[in-house]
Amino acid sequence: MTDIPRELTSLEAAAQAALEAAADATALEQVRVRYLGRKGSLAAVLRSVADLDPAERPAVGKLANEAKQRLETALALRREALEAAARAAALAAERADVTLPGRPIPMGRLHPSTQILRRICQIWADMGFQIYRSRDVETEAMNFELLNIPAHHPARDMWDTFYTTVDGVLLRTHTSPGQIRAMREYCPEPIRVILPGMCYRYEQITARSEIQFHQVEGLAVGRHVTMTELKGTLVSFAHRMFGAGRRVRFRASHFPFTEPSAEMDVKCILCGGTGCFLCKQTGWLEILGCGMVHPAVLQNGGYDPAVFSGFAFGMGPERITMLRHGIEDIRYFWANDLRFLEQF
Ligand code: DAH
Repeated sequence: MTDIPRELTSLEAAAQAALEAAADATALEQVRVRYLGRKGSLAAVLRSVADLDPAERPAVGKLANEAKQRLETALALRREALEAAARAAALAAERADVTLPGRPIPMGRLHPSTQILRRICQIWADMGFQIYRSRDVETEAMNFELLNIPAHHPARDMWDTFYTTVDGVLLRTHTSPGQIRAMREYCPEPIRVILPGMCYRYEQITARSEIQFHQVEGLAVGRHVTMTELKGTLVSFAHRMFGAGRRVRFRASHFPFTEPSAEMDVKCILCGGTGCFLCKQTGWLEILGCGMVHPAVLQNGGYDPAVFSGFAFGMGPERITMLRHGIEDIRYFWANDLRFLEQF
């Protein structure tokens, strides 16, 4: 009579205990190799079955195979249990505490000048004006002579200029030279354009003056463009920009490229006209310069001043932003200080 059945029983019991004790996948694999591997203890027992008496072999072989089946099933179950435990542990470790306060995500935003430029362009676009992009680097002729500002004319003092190393080439001191470029491009068609862009002036940088700033120029040319239309259009702009019903006034002024020329004021947006620091007790804020395009300028643009007339205006978006928000120092605009920029 063989010992194999007893051996099998104790081997199976030992293997089951080892499986239960295996705490992770590595330990489990060691147990598998030891008991169920090709050189493992069970394989040894199975091999010894071959040495048995042929009469005993079938019954013992059956026992051995059944033990092997049970152990393999137990191994698979144990493996699944260990994997489930590992998954649960990972989930617990990675679990998010949704009650914690969130980390703030810094949000970018548009520069205040970009915001006001877009607003201004939108208002003019609504009134049928196209945007005309002119250049920052200009010729002296476009920036001055063709706008009726000859060399040595005292009016040039209004525009301190950055000249380049190329003779007769400068950084535009205002967006007005774009008027000539637009006229030469559109002539003899009627024109309704605005020209937004950066301007440059060779000046001492102070709270009130910067060496670079934006302007938005406007130009309308046609056969019957009148001063009345200039006023009506600008009042309409002011109402959209500063609120319907905002009072405006026109004051006579002088610019070489317009005749007659005016400046437009709006009732102070801070005090409403009673007088405060913003309007310097006048009750009014100056918003833009304007006028009827000078015949000489029309002619320089290619239009016959006997047939065509036009109006033009120019405003400073930074100045408007300063007035709207009570900003007292223009240098903030290009200082890139987030404490300033984040307020818009
Ligand atoms: N170019 C002028 C400046 O820089 C602003 C200006 C005034 C533009 C009157 C105009 C205008 O088109 O008609 O100060």
